[in-house]
Amino acid sequence: MRIEVPTAVERFGAVRIFSMQHIFELDSGSNLPGRDPQKESIQTIRRISNEVLNDIEKRMAIIVPCKQERLKVMRGVLSGIPHDCLTILVSNSSRKPVDRFRMEQDVFAQFCQFVQRSAVLVHQRDPGLGEAFAAGGYSDLLDEEGLVQHGKGEGMLIGMALAKLSGKDFVGFVDADNYVPGAVQEYIKDFAAGLHMAQTPYSMVRVSWNSKPKVSESRLFFERWGRASEVTNRFLNLLLSDYTGFGTDIIRTGNSGEHAMTLRLGELLSFAPHFGVEPYQYINMLEMFGGVHASPHPEVMESGVEIYQIETLNPHFHEDKGADHVDSMSNSALSTIYNSSICTSGVKEAIRQHVKENEDSLQSQRPYPPLKTLNVKEFFRVLSRSAATFQQIRPVTGIPVLAAPPIVVPESS
Ligand code: GDD
Repeated sequence: MRIEVPTAVERFGAVRIFSMQHIFELDSGSNLPGRDPQKESIQTIRRISNEVLNDIEKRMAIIVPCKQERLKVMRGVLSGIPHDCLTILVSNSSRKPVDRFRMEQDVFAQFCQFVQRSAVLVHQRDPGLGEAFAAGGYSDLLDEEGLVQHGKGEGMLIGMALAKLSGKDFVGFVDADNYVPGAVQEYIKDFAAGLHMAQTPYSMVRVSWNSKPKVSESRLFFERWGRASEVTNRFLNLLLSDYTGFGTDIIRTGNSGEHAMTLRLGELLSFAPHFGVEPYQYINMLEMFGGVHASPHPEVMESGVEIYQIETLNPHFHEDKGADHVDSMSNSALSTIYNSSICTSGVKEAIRQHVKENEDSLQSQRPYPPLKTLNVKEFFRVLSRSAATFQQIRPVTGIPVLAAPPIVVPESS
């Protein structure tokens, strides 16, 4: 890959937010004898070899949250995930009257068997999964019936817990409703490029789509920004400006559903419920490491936190879920900013003016505690015993030998 180096950075305490980086070439070749990525990188464009990207992919789990998506589309997403990543599918699809989860399970298992890859699958509302979180001391995620609550953020947390058990170093997220497998592949290569560039163990990469095509008057229109993203980015930037005294538009990925991070950073973050999850990652990093409050993690303050933003070459074709859905996503985002302990009175007032008579939408949604508080050993003990939908798929490494399962009982929690 050849990627532009960031040309600007905004510093907020120990958090560094880099300006958007553009991709020049998706594949810049392998490191054949005589080719030196160092020599081939010029000051503004960096070459990252296929070997380096692949090395990161081997250490990365890709979580696919899925709820009622078309099976063919979901399968396309799976095909786009680079082979060496561990795929973790967390489904919240219906079980009755039609068992859509069972269909997904079949497609998933068949696909993984065909391509011989390691993968993990679980249903979000499996009672055994709820029991496992309770056993691991992480009951905040559960409803009154002891099941994991509905929501995308909740599905992402389940995936993170499984990724942590698998021993991977990085975790990335891609939606299950992407029509273009090649775009999925690019997002994950972009994740790997950003994580490779990072100078700290606490880093995150967020992608911004080049465009989001819509059909308008029977022709394709390549829209630059989604409506929810435009609003979220504006208020996140306003918050930064209010502290620094300088206007900024550095944040372009407030809502980025496609993103990746080191697990060392991920397990320290609190996750917001539902669709507040992505904007809250920014807010939570600024709350913990922005220097406004004393940080609960002095070691992170020393190393610093880095946020890379990469613009994809591919456009994003996905399932359009309608205007109400976009409004509710936008409200969740604004609520996480509004209710933050670092939100200034000026930004609060601007948000109130934006939502006008709809102030109820700003009600606080309590974030879940960091995953570091989960006792993974207990979690896994109960999960493997009680969760009927928890499935580990492992490739055949010889006949009749199977590879080790992606997740094994950890020695210590
Ligand atoms: N496990 C699980 N549980 N998955 C869910 C749930 C749930 O309760 N709800 C939704 N999903 C899955 C969907 O199936 C899809 O794969 C993904 O989460 C995103 O949900 P969508 O409903 O398709 O969201 P969107 O496409 O409108 O918005 C996406 O892009 C936004 C940025 O523009 C999401 O990724 C947002 O989080 C993101 O902010």
